[in-house]
Formats: sequence, structure tokens, C-alpha cells
Amino acid sequence: MFISFEGTEGVGKTTLIRKIYEYLEQQGQAVVLTREPGGTPMAEQIRSLLLSVNHEESMSNDTELLLMYAARAQHLQQVIIPALVAGKTVLCDRFTDASFAYQCAGRGLSREKLNVLNQNFVSHMPNITFWLDAPIELGMTRARERGALDRFEQEKVTFFEKVRAGYQELFEQYPERMKRLDATQTPEQVFEQAVAYLK
Ligand code: TMP
Repeated sequence: MFISFEGTEGVGKTTLIRKIYEYLEQQGQAVVLTREPGGTPMAEQIRSLLLSVNHEESMSNDTELLLMYAARAQHLQQVIIPALVAGKTVLCDRFTDASFAYQCAGRGLSREKLNVLNQNFVSHMPNITFWLDAPIELGMTRARERGALDRFEQEKVTFFEKVRAGYQELFEQYPERMKRLDATQTPEQVFEQAVAYLK
């Protein structure tokens, strides 16, 4: 099983993933917990480049997209594919849906650019994707409470509204795979919603 977790900032993905990880381990499953961008030493370096706020040079949207996929290619080859081949369950904090939501819906890049990358560099797609959905303001308040904001978190509400609309579009397009969770509820309730789908 390959399970991904998606949503805008501060919706409680990390908390949910930890709970699901413990739940599946208790069931005796071998589980790998990982994230994007990142998940391998090299991909984590690319993540730093993507998230750091650079005052000397702004990152172009194309560079951002390609770095996401450079990190993803490394992550797939080093972590995701070997784990799936070994029969493990992979829990991934974000995957290709984030590229559609952030780089296409958010930044305005064409879906065609993304399709080319997905077709050529993404051999495995999640069986289930949990989309934690909540109003933008709620998540941004939580993100601000966590401390210094990264390059994405510094974006305006209007950007995140577009990202959220992107996830809604995917949700409508892939109803079998995408499961929407109401992230305005307590962490325990969000976990119960997810477990109900897993069962
Ligand atoms: P995180 O907040 O879940 O740790 O993810 C880091 C940021 O990277 C988050 O703001 C969303 C962004 N992102 C993209 O823009 N495109 C992608 O493909 C991925 C995986 C993440």
C-alpha cells in the first residue's frame, strides 16, 4: 500500500501521519514514513533549497517544479519503490498532487508541463490519498504559531486559496483515490475519519 497525505499549510498532516503510522504498526504491518520534497539525504538538500527564503534571487516557477521532480525521482528510486517491492506500506507526506495544487493551480504552470514529468518520472502512484481540508486562515494561524515561515508559508492567502481549489479539482477528478478529511475537527476525529477509509 502506498498512502499519501495532502493539504495546505497547518492542516495537521504530520499529526495524522504519526497516528496512522502507530496504528498500522500495531496491526503488524511494516511501515515506512517519509515525506516530499525530501525523504533521502540528497532530496532533503533539494528541499532546503526549495523552502529557504533567498533574498538575493527569486526562484522561477519552472525551477521550483523541476526541483520538486528532481527530489521526487531520487525519493522514488531510493525509498518508495524499494519499500513497495519489499511489501511495506509507504506513508508519504505529500506527493504528485502537491505539484498540481501548488505549481499548477497555485503558481499557474500548465498541466501539460506536469503531465510530461508524471508520465516520464513517476512510475508509482498512491493507492489512497488523504486530503486534509480546512479553511486557509485556520491553517495559516497554526503555521504562524510554529515559528519562522518558509518560502511557501510566506505566500498570501490568495495563493493558498488557489492551492485549495487545486486539491478540490483533483478530488473531483479522482474520487476513488482521493479521500477528503474535514481537518477543522480534532486530531482524534480526523484520525477516525482516516481509519474508517482504511478499513
Ligand atoms: P510541507 O509543508 O508539507 O513540509 O511541504 C513543504 C512545502 O512544499 C509545502 O509548502 C508545499 C510544497 N510542495 C510543493 O509546492 N510541491 C510539491 O510537489 C511538494 C511535494 C511540496
